[in-house]
Amino acid sequence: MSDLHDLELLIESAVPIIYVETPEEARLDALVKRLGNRLGKPIIRWSVVSGLQGTHNVDSSKDKSNPGTALQQILQSDQEGIFVFFDLHPWLEEPVVVRLLREIGKQYSQIARTLILVSPTVTIPSELETLSVKFSLSLPGRDDIIAMILAESEAWGEKKKRRVQARQEVVEALARNLIGLSFSDCRAIIRSLIYDNGILDDQDVEKAIEAKYKTLDSDGVLSFEMETARFTDVAGLRRLKEWLGYRREVFLSDNAPPGLDTPKGLLLLGVQGSGKSLAAKAVAGAWQVPLLRLDFAALYNKYYGETEKNLRNSLKTAEMMAPAVLWIDEIEKGLSPDDNGGPSKRVLGTLLTWMAERESRVFMVATANDIEALPPELLRKGRFDEIFFVDLPSDDVREEIFRIHLELREQDAESFDLVELGKASSGFSGAEIEQAVVASVYASFARKEDLTDVHILAELAQTKPLSVLMAEKIHGLRAWAADRTVPAD
Ligand SMILES: Nc1ncnc2c1ncn2[C@@H]1O[C@H](COP(=O)(O)OP(=O)(O)OP(=O)(O)O)[C@@H](O)[C@H]1O
Ligand SMILES: [Mg+2]
Repeated sequence: MSDLHDLELLIESAVPIIYVETPEEARLDALVKRLGNRLGKPIIRWSVVSGLQGTHNVDSSKDKSNPGTALQQILQSDQEGIFVFFDLHPWLEEPVVVRLLREIGKQYSQIARTLILVSPTVTIPSELETLSVKFSLSLPGRDDIIAMILAESEAWGEKKKRRVQARQEVVEALARNLIGLSFSDCRAIIRSLIYDNGILDDQDVEKAIEAKYKTLDSDGVLSFEMETARFTDVAGLRRLKEWLGYRREVFLSDNAPPGLDTPKGLLLLGVQGSGKSLAAKAVAGAWQVPLLRLDFAALYNKYYGETEKNLRNSLKTAEMMAPAVLWIDEIEKGLSPDDNGGPSKRVLGTLLTWMAERESRVFMVATANDIEALPPELLRKGRFDEIFFVDLPSDDVREEIFRIHLELREQDAESFDLVELGKASSGFSGAEIEQAVVASVYASFARKEDLTDVHILAELAQTKPLSVLMAEKIHGLRAWAADRTVPAD
């Protein structure tokens, strides 16, 4: 294991203070124990409950819970070795404790004492910076997770006297999806999946993804969307679907073939209600990866003054969930350029940097319908792999939208004159067609009649579609999109 090697190098390089930020105390402790044996160094441990343990050179019975006393004793003795302090972090704000750590550290050339500070969180005071380095425990890789699944399955099997049922693909999928979590979090999730019913199947993969997300997400700016969509729910958008189809395999493969860049993301720009949000959800559904939604409104509301930091954290969480789709709906609302130098400028900067530099397989799908509010930097070549324009649906696509929405409402689409409905709904958006179907289902139900074309046609005739109400705006949008975007259908 490389952790052993890395920590050994640090200790051998005579750094006096090594701090380790980890919830996996037991794992670190085991590592230090092995190193102590290997290097022939004694290990002395301290915690607030047991005080100093593992040395006869200092009096461990003295004032156990006071780290100042323990450090004072260490400073005055000539005991060499590795001193592991568990959860010392609350005392790192005390000047006496900081000073003692510094004194011990400065003596290293005379008395070789390595102090290892282990806590779930550590902020090293500036006085100690030059004397200390950070060490991070590695996260389990694919093979480690598979080994863990096997070990946990075996343990369960022995206890229950029957075998865990799991297909190889499921084990692989679990391993792929749990990457990015610590050993203990992985183990806890695997255990709960096995103990549930002794079976590991596709549902457990979904549960694992959700559990991972819950483990990672701390601030609620990013939401995990359980509901994705399928491309069969989306009419039209043929070029977009083809574009995504071409990229699916490369995006999902662990080592993309040379010469093919990992797809990074796209922008769907277009008319209201034309299916942009639906299409964004369908990307995750079609690629069978988690759908994570980044909510700018939550970002601004919740954390006044901490927006960029939280954006960075959210993006990091998204990366830990990779491969994943990161969906930013109505991106222009969070990044409006007219607010000079305000948080949105800096948020935009953070986002653009991330888009340019990220290496992970997080596919960003942004949607927008107001080009005037879109910052031009976002549209510059190379930000998105492609910008698609989603226009109002054409005749044949409208027929398809009717079919989809009739079938979603348990109607037999074949008994309707879809061509006629398509013609009658010229200028309607997908959302408006859906509304017409919904309203006519209600109308027919209220009249105790079976739904027919007549109900729907009546509904359409009553509606003034957006294309009429907002003719100018849509015209402007089309003109703008003509030489800057690719038609989605
Ligand atoms: N091409 C389509 N195929 C099937 N259903 C559609 C289509 N376009 C729109 N709809 C229906 O209309 C609903 C609203 O569409 P959606 O929210 O995706 O539009 P949008 O482009 O995101 O609109 P907005 O700009 O207002 O956010 C969808 O949930 C879906 O039911
Ligand atoms: Mg939308």
